[in-house]
Amino acid sequence: MQSWKLGALLGALMLVSSAAATIEEDLSTVLKFGPRVTGSEANEKARTYFEAQFRVLGYTTRRDVFTYPRFDDLGSDVQVGTRTLAGRALEGSTGGEVRARAINVPGVGTTEDFRAVNVQGQVAVVQRGQIPFLDKAQNALAAGAAGLIVVNNEAQELQGRLGERVVLPALTVTSTAGAALNDGQQVTLSVRVRDGEVRGVNVVAFKSATTRPEILFGGHMDSVVRAPGANDNLSGTVAVLDIARRVANTPLATQSYFVLFDGEEDGLRGSRAFVKDNATAVQGLKAMFNFDMVGVNVTPLRVTGEGRLVGLAQQAAQISGTARDEGGSDQVPFAQAGIPTLFFHRGLDVNYHQPSDTVADPQLIRATVDAALKTAGAALQLTPTGR
Ligand code: BES
Ligand code: ZN
Repeated sequence: MQSWKLGALLGALMLVSSAAATIEEDLSTVLKFGPRVTGSEANEKARTYFEAQFRVLGYTTRRDVFTYPRFDDLGSDVQVGTRTLAGRALEGSTGGEVRARAINVPGVGTTEDFRAVNVQGQVAVVQRGQIPFLDKAQNALAAGAAGLIVVNNEAQELQGRLGERVVLPALTVTSTAGAALNDGQQVTLSVRVRDGEVRGVNVVAFKSATTRPEILFGGHMDSVVRAPGANDNLSGTVAVLDIARRVANTPLATQSYFVLFDGEEDGLRGSRAFVKDNATAVQGLKAMFNFDMVGVNVTPLRVTGEGRLVGLAQQAAQISGTARDEGGSDQVPFAQAGIPTLFFHRGLDVNYHQPSDTVADPQLIRATVDAALKTAGAALQLTPTGR
């Protein structure tokens, strides 16, 4: 290739890679990475993509790292002959493989139920319900069982937790799988778990000229296991990035922090860490806007949060709102720290936390950004509440 052609090609490539993307491009790029569970490779790929986007817009990005303990089911099952029945490890269970006979314990696994059969060295099978999972597991252990299967009372998978560590491999199966377990039959129970520390990483983007942020736009970029999290919460993440794009060359850019929280699905870990580790910046905020599930219109765009901000959103952006603290997302630690918050969402859709959470509508995200920008403009005019 002639050198001028090569130069032109490289120039064109650089132009492409240094141009800001669109909402549509953000969605299609990041969805391909897969579920963004905190600590996963897809989560890291998504973060790298978002950081590059902020930087193209002239923002500085910073990574705030935090850690927390988490129990992971790495895929657990029961092998019956040539059949593999999928199971879900009970949180707190020990990992391990047990080859033994399945013994149907009549009932839900009370001490009396266990008296009726001999489960010594075998895999005890009990029904869901009536008593806590922990009691079932401890009773099974006391009766000498080598493993425990809890059968759900419906055809759905069941996610359960023991609440304590129990030295017994224990999992749940669906009612359909339970029906395939015959008394006395040889089975292989495999519980594969990891019980360790997870590393979460928040991304904080800001202009280098920013000394004291007045408003923080945030959304969580992590998702739950097996869920691509298009609506929960790639939609909110992309809304935050798009606000950064829209204001990049305006005064609002230097008044703002843009934060992509990690570890939300594990209990608001990222936002709690942020509030704890950035106390000075947090206390100077006039407002925190959180975006979670804004890409599917279950209800028209709504806000909940601090009274004055809700009023502004209603006036400035004509969106309906309720002045109350609504739990379940990253605005909570800020509200608890006394910061006025606004939580933007469009309700809980049917694909919530499911593998089918694959769609977010760019137009709805754009409309959310429009509403948030109108509200932010008004919020920055507010006189301080004297906190
Ligand atoms: N995206 C949800 C919260 C949500 C619910 C947003 C309804 C919009 C409408 C969030 O990711 C979530 O699942 N939160 C958990 C609690 C959290 C502490 C793990 C919840 O609501 O159960
Ligand atoms: Zn969410």
